[in-house]
Amino acid sequence: MKTILIKGGRLIDPSRNFDGRADLLIKDGVIEGMKNGLKAPSGSETIDAQNLVVMPGLIDMHVHLRDPGYEYKEDIITGSRAAAAGGFTAVATMANTDPVGDDPTTICYIRERAGSAAVRIYPLGALTKGLEGKELAELGRMKSAGAVAFSDDGKPVFNGMIMRNALQYAAGLGALIIAHEEDPYLAAKGTMHEGSVSSVLGLRGIPSAAEEAMLARDLMLLETSGGRLHIAHVSTAGSVELIRRAKAEGLKVTAEVTPHHLILTDRAVKNSGYNTNTKVNPPLRAESDRQALWAGLLDGTIDVIASDHAPHHSDDKDVEFDFAPFGIAGLETTLPLMLDEYSSGRIKDLTLPILVDKMSTAPARILGLEGGTLQEGGAADITIVDPDRSFIINPETWHSKSRNTPFAGRQLNGAAVFTIVGGKVVMREGVITDQ
Ligand code: DOR
Repeated sequence: MKTILIKGGRLIDPSRNFDGRADLLIKDGVIEGMKNGLKAPSGSETIDAQNLVVMPGLIDMHVHLRDPGYEYKEDIITGSRAAAAGGFTAVATMANTDPVGDDPTTICYIRERAGSAAVRIYPLGALTKGLEGKELAELGRMKSAGAVAFSDDGKPVFNGMIMRNALQYAAGLGALIIAHEEDPYLAAKGTMHEGSVSSVLGLRGIPSAAEEAMLARDLMLLETSGGRLHIAHVSTAGSVELIRRAKAEGLKVTAEVTPHHLILTDRAVKNSGYNTNTKVNPPLRAESDRQALWAGLLDGTIDVIASDHAPHHSDDKDVEFDFAPFGIAGLETTLPLMLDEYSSGRIKDLTLPILVDKMSTAPARILGLEGGTLQEGGAADITIVDPDRSFIINPETWHSKSRNTPFAGRQLNGAAVFTIVGGKVVMREGVITDQ
């Protein structure tokens, strides 16, 4: 493995509150040194990072890689290449596959396939058997097989007693539960946010209460059961407030938000002319929700930015709005979209160290993964970003098998130019170099 010297970059390491210029030396897959004036050892590669930002490798803790079962939408290898292209060095993959990832065999299968992947792949186990919400899956055995947390994402755990048992059991295991908060009876087969736009468009709405009622229940259960709960794809102002209060009361809850909920509103469904790539669960909400999500992200209520990469084939999406599956593919757009929010100055108080924390250090801490730091001796998982790089979202050039994004054609500033995993360059200027 080549020794690499990253020279003269702006290094951001939220794990040590560091933001300054230094060189970074990578040797034998680990970070060997970080200081100014490091000399390139003979035979090493030097990356000139004068105009670049060097950060611990980005970690996406919420992706759907559709493997096993729906490989026509994505598989572990194409998903990993999409991740590398998007600047991610690691992703955690959800269990709503076929078969469902609810036993050690599927977890082992994912880990085996991960051996040929461009980035680190961490399997998440299902919380209940078959994602049916009726019977707990074998959490302990899946954890031993390598599952890093448990989630029925894509579906809620509707039965409160099952959720309570899950929290208690996971607490004993020291395991994290990731909750998809949705009351299916309130969501009532809706296809977009319930509000004035859904009324005008004549589409069935999903009220904010569908998310908030379930979240409130889970926070109450968490209070007595112990354990740790992470809230997936938070979408409403009310949810932000519930999590803010729960944190103030000392509950062990963390939360994530997606770029699409931070950037788009329900108006995107109207403005795009019912484009099914705006159909996502939870739905794109109102402007007041969008603003509350940013406020929550900046005040620490929301810990993580995750893509909720949900790839779907055009055959599935090119149907009437009512019949299209929910989901937006985000691995190759999340970082450019977030960098553009920063560089445009649209979001007052948004800084690069905040973005790096939300996309690397915080997910590593929450899932208990290596990474999220530039500390000497740690694995050399590094993302190098050009914050001024002009970038147009063109799904036709994606490494993902799917193309479902409402952001196609957007012109942005900022993109990853190198993705380094375990000391190996896996993406250089958009080209995947893992094979
Ligand atoms: O929009 C979504 N798509 N939300 C989810 O929770 C699941 C996901 C999927 O698996 O397609």
